[in-house]
Amino acid sequence: MSGAGKTVCVTGASGFIASWLVKFLLQRGYTVRASVRDPSDPKKTHHLLALEGAKERLHLFKASLLEEGSFDAAIDGCDGVFHTASPFFFATNDPEAELIAPALKGTLNVLESCAKASSVKRVVLTSSVASVAMNGRPLTPEVVVDETWWSDIEFCRKIQAWYVLSKTLAEDAAWKFAKEKGIDLVVINPAMVIGPLLQPTLNTSAEAILNLMNGAETYPNGSVGWVNVKSVANAHIQAFEIPSASGRYCMVEEVAHYADIVEILGKLYPSHKLPEKCVDEKLMPKYQVSQEKAKSLGIDFIPFEQSIKETVDSLKEKNLF
Ligand SMILES: NC(=O)c1ccc[n+]([C@@H]2O[C@H](COP(=O)([O-])OP(=O)(O)OC[C@H]3O[C@@H](n4cnc5c(N)ncnc54)[C@H](OP(=O)(O)O)[C@@H]3O)[C@@H](O)[C@H]2O)c1
Repeated sequence: MSGAGKTVCVTGASGFIASWLVKFLLQRGYTVRASVRDPSDPKKTHHLLALEGAKERLHLFKASLLEEGSFDAAIDGCDGVFHTASPFFFATNDPEAELIAPALKGTLNVLESCAKASSVKRVVLTSSVASVAMNGRPLTPEVVVDETWWSDIEFCRKIQAWYVLSKTLAEDAAWKFAKEKGIDLVVINPAMVIGPLLQPTLNTSAEAILNLMNGAETYPNGSVGWVNVKSVANAHIQAFEIPSASGRYCMVEEVAHYADIVEILGKLYPSHKLPEKCVDEKLMPKYQVSQEKAKSLGIDFIPFEQSIKETVDSLKEKNLF
């Protein structure tokens, strides 16, 4: 019970990754202050309140990324803060208002509350491989992406990769703010996160798998990194608990093309209709992402095929097909 007697805040606690983080934190004995936008919405809170230890050690706080000072009450008195809240979707008509402002201003708002609270010893930020790998350099099989890479802001604007831009701006601002205020910041940079859902609603990364099983004729032409939500939640906790943890940690179990995923799905669910071809003729190449630093946190990555199976079985169980 490494967390016994310690209080931590998790922002955006009802989200896909954060729900697992809250579950593992409660299991380890932490008292958890969970921020949600609407504590009266059972879809956002019921699954959290049902977690083991929640009755004794989970406290809900209402907070919104765009409201200054909104996180003060949840963070004041905490030993640590896990800032996961940030909008994650791709389609938007107003990237500035819907993605960039909540990611960037929201992160600074949360860090501002951390700077005010002298109790906070470390902040763990959920960034993304999105803020690491998109710099315009072609991603080909011999390329190994690692934590020294940064996505390029101008390149993201040019190709209108708004979610990627939002995460890059937010992480960059977080590092600058943390340095200025002397905050001990550690950053987790996961790739596309899959695995079982605790929340009752569909999230963007699980939807990427669901879309392959919804009767589509083609699959997207993309090679993307994938990682299990349980590994990502554990990495957050390790990043908080291991005193020497520092800097960024990329979290990627495997880089796979959608063609590979369709092949795995065909093996696991032979009677299910799956897309038969790629939307383009020439498949995007794969690349590598270093696991070295993540492994220094003691992370044992979950095999990719198991993560796919856990995702699909969970989507079925929750009637999200
Ligand atoms: N899933 C992935 O593949 C992946 C990969 C890399 C990084 N990430 C990062 O991981 C974090 C969590 O992602 P997720 O996949 O768990 O997404 P999710 O299930 O959509 O959760 C996002 C959370 O952010 C909160 N949020 C969004 N806008 C907000 C606002 N204006 N004010 C307060 N809270 C707000 C949401 O709160 P409500 O519940 O109130 O809507 C929700 O709890 C994000 O920072 C995301 O960028 C995700």
